[in-house]
Amino acid sequence: MTERKESTKRAAPPPTETPGLPIHVRVATEADIAPLVPLLVRLKRLNEEFDPLLKVRADVDDRAREILQHDLSNPRAVVLAAEGVGSDKDKVVGVVRAQVRERVFYTPELEGVILDIYLLPLYRRRGVGEYLLQEATSHLKEKGAGLVTAEFPTQNEIAVRFYAKRGFRPITALHARALERS
Ligand SMILES: CC(C)(COP(=O)(O)OP(=O)(O)OC[C@H]1O[C@@H](n2cnc3c(N)ncnc32)[C@H](O)[C@@H]1OP(=O)(O)O)[C@@H](O)C(=O)NCCC(=O)NCCS
Repeated sequence: MTERKESTKRAAPPPTETPGLPIHVRVATEADIAPLVPLLVRLKRLNEEFDPLLKVRADVDDRAREILQHDLSNPRAVVLAAEGVGSDKDKVVGVVRAQVRERVFYTPELEGVILDIYLLPLYRRRGVGEYLLQEATSHLKEKGAGLVTAEFPTQNEIAVRFYAKRGFRPITALHARALERS
């Protein structure tokens, strides 16, 4: 079953009933890179299912590893790892990548951009995404962001609904057209 079809189903009950949210969120470390790479890659493959212009590269795993490594040493970047609890303790089940960027022409001058947010399907639709967003936002605010934004593919209806439900609205758009190879 593809990720997209899988993701439109409601989440199954957790393996063990845990009070509160079935995750623990923390700032990612070098040791998290290996388990975070497949999560980032799953997100990119999901985006590919939504839009053929987002065809995933053959070297996506290497690129994801490099990007994460770079983020971990970038003081303007935030990478959070969500770990399961109970029988899923120590298993990384979700990720958020974000960055503080300068807005050269606008105020507030710094924005916190959520670049990637991904949770394994079993963990979805129980408020975990909302919690990840709150955590990422507070880290971005600590780094000086006066505005939080989210970058995601327009065709990714999960992201569109997730962010719209939390009061995000489009402020800029990136339109694309494929070019013939000469
Ligand atoms: C986006 C994501 C992190 C949200 O996590 P979550 O724990 O499901 O989010 P919450 O439980 O806090 O909020 C659920 C809301 O998100 C949206 N949503 C989540 N899954 C959805 C789906 N399959 N289809 C449509 N909307 C969906 C809805 O607005 C939903 O509210 P509803 O249940 O009242 O319809 C998670 O769904 C995910 O990993 N999706 C796949 C990756 C992705 O698309 N990431 C965003 C692009 S960068």
